[in-house]
Amino acid sequence: MEEPTATTVEAGRYALGESRSEAQPICAVATTTRNRYRSHIGELDRVLGGGVVPGSVILIGGDPGIGKSTLVLQALAALAKDARALYVSGEESPQQIRMRADRLGIDSASGDRLLVLAETALERIVAQAKKLAPAVLAVDSIQTVFTERLGSAPGSIAQVRESAGQLVLLSKASALATFLVGHVTKEGTFAGPRVLEHMVDTVLYFEGDRGHSFRILRAVKNRFGSTNEIGVFAMRETGLQPVANPSELFLAERPVEVPGSVVTATLEGTRPILVEVQALVSPSALGTPRRTTLGIDPNRVALLIAVLEKKMGLHLFGHDVFVNVAGGIRVAEPASDLGVVAAVASSFLEKPIDARCLLIGEVGLAGEVRAVSQADVRVREAIKLGFSRCVLPESSRRQLPAFEGVELQGVSSLNEAWDLLF
Ligand code: TYD
Ligand code: MG
Repeated sequence: MEEPTATTVEAGRYALGESRSEAQPICAVATTTRNRYRSHIGELDRVLGGGVVPGSVILIGGDPGIGKSTLVLQALAALAKDARALYVSGEESPQQIRMRADRLGIDSASGDRLLVLAETALERIVAQAKKLAPAVLAVDSIQTVFTERLGSAPGSIAQVRESAGQLVLLSKASALATFLVGHVTKEGTFAGPRVLEHMVDTVLYFEGDRGHSFRILRAVKNRFGSTNEIGVFAMRETGLQPVANPSELFLAERPVEVPGSVVTATLEGTRPILVEVQALVSPSALGTPRRTTLGIDPNRVALLIAVLEKKMGLHLFGHDVFVNVAGGIRVAEPASDLGVVAAVASSFLEKPIDARCLLIGEVGLAGEVRAVSQADVRVREAIKLGFSRCVLPESSRRQLPAFEGVELQGVSSLNEAWDLLF
C-alpha cells in the first residue's frame, strides 16, 4: 500500500497513474489544479483556504456536543447545491438526520443531491461511495467505523487508523473530497483521531465553550491553505450562523461606564477581535486571597497583579481578584496585558474606564508598556466599531499613521497610562 503524499492529492493525478515514476524538472510539472468546491459558507471556505479541494481529506475534531455534526451536515447541504454529497453517520439514524436537516432548513435546493446513509461497516461505506460516486463524502464519526479485516473493537486505535487509511485511499483514487469527524480534544486526551493527523491533508478543530453560542473553527494543519485563518460561528436554534464580525458579538452585552470593564484587541490568526476583559476585585475573607481567571492564563494574571502591587502601589494582597474574558473566548496574547491591568485597577479603584477607549500593550515586570504586533490591524478594527480613543505602546504608536476619528495615545509605562486613564 502506498503512502499518499500532498502531491497525490491535487486532483488525484498521481493516483490516476500520471507522472508516476519519472522525475521531471519542477517547472515542467503542470500547474493545473481542479477547482475547489465552494461551500459558500464564507467562514468555512476561508478556513479551508478557499473551498474544498477534490481528493483532499479533512479531519474535523472537537469535543462531543460542540457542533461537528451540525457543521458537516450544513457544509454538505451547501456543497450539494452544485454536486452530489454523501453523509454517512455511524451515530444517528436517517430519521434523526432528517430531523436535524429540517431544523437547519436544508431544503430541496440540495435535497436530491444530498444522500444520507446510516452505516458503520467500512466495506459497505466504501461500496456505497464507489457506487454513488459523490463529489463530497462525510463520515461522522470515524470512531464508529470498523473494518471486518481487523478483529479489534470499533473505536480502537487500530480500527480508527485502518478505516481512515482506507478512506484516504478512496479519496485519492477517485478525487473525492472527504470530511472525517473525530471526537477529540485539543490536548488529544481521547487518543484515537490524533493518530490520523499525519494521514489527512487538513486538520480543523472546532472549539468553543458549550455555555456560550460562539464557536471557532481553526485550521491546525492545511496542505491547501494557511493555518492562520479562523472561522467564527454562532450556534443558534437553526444551526450554525457565520459571524462575519466577531468583535460585535463579543462586545454586544458590554456594560458601559462600569468599573472593571475594559476592551482590548486580540489577534486570532490574521483577524483582530475586540474582546471585553472584566475584573472584579473585592476584599478577601481568606488568608490567601483568591486569584481566579476565565479565558486567560492564571499565571499571566498573577504576574500582572504582582506588577500592579509593586510598581503602582495597589494593595491587592488583601483582595480576591477575578478576571474574565466575556463571551467565552480565550485570550492568549501579551497584547492584552494592558487591558487586564487596567481592568483590575479600574475595579480596585472603583473608577470606570472610557467605554470608547481601546487598550493594547504588553506589560513588563518593570511596569513598562511594550510594543505589540500588528497594532494597525487592531486599531482599524476598533475604528470600525466606533472607538474614538486608543491607549497603546508609544513604540507602536510611532509606527502608525494618523487615523481619522480615533485619538492615539502612546504610553511607555504604566505610570503614563494611569495619567490618561484614572
Ligand atoms: P452536534 O452537531 O450534534 O455536536 P457534535 O456532533 O460535535 O457532537 O451539536 C450539538 C449541540 O448543538 C446540541 O446540544 C444541540 C445544539 N444545536 C443547536 O443549538 N442548534 C441546532 O440547530 C442544532 C442542529 C444543534
Ligand atoms: Mg455528532
